Amino acid sequence: MVRKKVRHLTRLGYHKLAKPILFANTPDRVHEGMIRMARGVQRIPFVRDVPKIWAYKNDKYLAQELHGIIFKNPVGLSAGLDKNADTVGVMRAVGFGWMTAGSVTAVPCTGNPRPWFHRLKKTRSLVVYTGLFNRGSEQVAKRISRYPAKLFINFPLSVSAAKTNNLEVVSETEGIKDYCVTLARMEREPNVRMHEINISCPNTYSGEPFIIPERLKKLLQATDDLKLDKPVFVKMPISLKWQEFKLLLDVIIEHNIQGVSIGNLLKDRTKAKLLDDLPDTVKGNLSGAPCREISTSLIRETYEKYGDRLTIIGIGGVFTPQDAYEKIKAGASLVALVTGVIFEGPQLIGEINRGLVDLLREDGFSNISEAIGQDIKSV
Ligand SMILES: Cc1cc2nc3c(=O)[nH]c(=O)nc-3n(C[C@H](O)[C@H](O)[C@H](O)COP(=O)(O)O)c2cc1C
Repeated sequence: MVRKKVRHLTRLGYHKLAKPILFANTPDRVHEGMIRMARGVQRIPFVRDVPKIWAYKNDKYLAQELHGIIFKNPVGLSAGLDKNADTVGVMRAVGFGWMTAGSVTAVPCTGNPRPWFHRLKKTRSLVVYTGLFNRGSEQVAKRISRYPAKLFINFPLSVSAAKTNNLEVVSETEGIKDYCVTLARMEREPNVRMHEINISCPNTYSGEPFIIPERLKKLLQATDDLKLDKPVFVKMPISLKWQEFKLLLDVIIEHNIQGVSIGNLLKDRTKAKLLDDLPDTVKGNLSGAPCREISTSLIRETYEKYGDRLTIIGIGGVFTPQDAYEKIKAGASLVALVTGVIFEGPQLIGEINRGLVDLLREDGFSNISEAIGQDIKSV
């Protein structure tokens, strides 16, 4: 009850005070400041526990085991907010059930020329143009190894691997080697529990070569050879039509891949209901609200055809418990978000988990696992 009040007051404070100040600055600056602040908070005993006040726990309704991993709640941080795994302690404290760090690449990447982000306030979206800025998977693996192992008990860490965004790694062979280097590094790091292969980063020199089925097949043959023991998810593009998307799934199910994350940023601006001006000079791809329905409908189709073979992580435009529940009922076992927390505040994760329990109870479910894919099962 006290925590519910705190979350409510934080929401008011975030919308009335913090957000107007944050949104008066450029999103690039806010992102840098947030990472710096989270790193600082993590280092100070007692202060590092303050974000726990927003978290919500309810193992009976929200905990589940997937691929041998316990998830205390289904709500995760999606790739991109914490590229270098700098904020794991804060993400756990704030109430996420799991998180994805990255995307990371085999060698460090400086990213695209700034600005990397453009805020669409009314649309509730960010235009993202980072171009895979990260310190490289060797450094990031070292960073992860320095966290105490107990931080990852019941807080699974996934690392998203992408292909280095530079002119040397544009060929198919070099690209495949690049992914494999990162996956092998993360497989060796005990604090990492899952892999995500990001084939759908739209802001790079070579585009998205591995969203072509023949090339994806070659990539996944190479990752099969790594004999990865940790579960592997593929981060899917959402700008493809279902028939094209399905061709990728047909490749994926032939390999050592346990699931798909649906999905990445929206490339096709014509598919977005934009409530703000977005000139062509602003480069990048859309997160947040414009992704919601497109990703949910791909989740539904994927669950219907491949639900018995692939675990689905639902991503895109989750701002409320209802948004998360929609993705779960469409077939997602887990959900993840980035933009929601930027627009709604740090209490959002607790609010979503609390709201999910109410929605599960209303529908007569006693655990989240019973609700997964209910839209399809009940037809
Ligand atoms: C600031 C930012 C950076 C991102 N960087 C990555 C990335 O490095 N790798 C990746 O797979 N997705 C990246 N994404 C995409 C998100 O993981 C997510 O798929 C997408 O934003 C939709 O979720 P959302 O609506 O909750 O933001 C990024 C998104 C944002 C907003």
